[in-house]
Amino acid sequence: MERQPFNKIVLIGFMGTGKSTISRLLSGRLGWARLDGDEEIERVSGKRISDIFAADGEAGFRRIETTVLESLLKDESPAIVATGGGAVLSEYNRSLMLDHAWVVALKASPEHIIERVKSDSSRPLLQGDAAERVHTLLEQRKHAYDFAHFTVDTTGLTAEQVASAIMEAY
Ligand code: S3P
Repeated sequence: MERQPFNKIVLIGFMGTGKSTISRLLSGRLGWARLDGDEEIERVSGKRISDIFAADGEAGFRRIETTVLESLLKDESPAIVATGGGAVLSEYNRSLMLDHAWVVALKASPEHIIERVKSDSSRPLLQGDAAERVHTLLEQRKHAYDFAHFTVDTTGLTAEQVASAIMEAY
């Protein structure tokens, strides 16, 4: 029996692995909508992510993240959904993703991640010594993305090649 493909692809992965860039490319190639968890969190709350962390802590942010993820995934239309790097930390969120979408993990080396995130000061979890924070969080999350249906190691690949690898596997 042939697998009935999901009409949603969820991109998971650590901060700076290229989820937003790849979601744009896939959306263009498949002609599907592009939904972005972090953008949607800022839209519905009317606040920047850093302000949500400052006012309500990480726990407050995670509550909104789950509500937003639910609404994005339960929508019926085809879409590429880019998630924040910590959306996978909740068991509930992981089940939601697996139930509604083909889940694709993007992996990148610590060096590559640090290079991508260091010039962007908007991430509350990377305040201070960003390189040190990346190493600590990567260690804490080393198996957090293993539940994906498909994983792409982006090392040495262009964004176009990453998108092609995903399209071929879909
Ligand atoms: C987070 C990743 C961020 C954002 C928030 C928390 C995390 O998204 O959701 O700052 O816990 O890894 P990106 O992965 O898009 O940077």
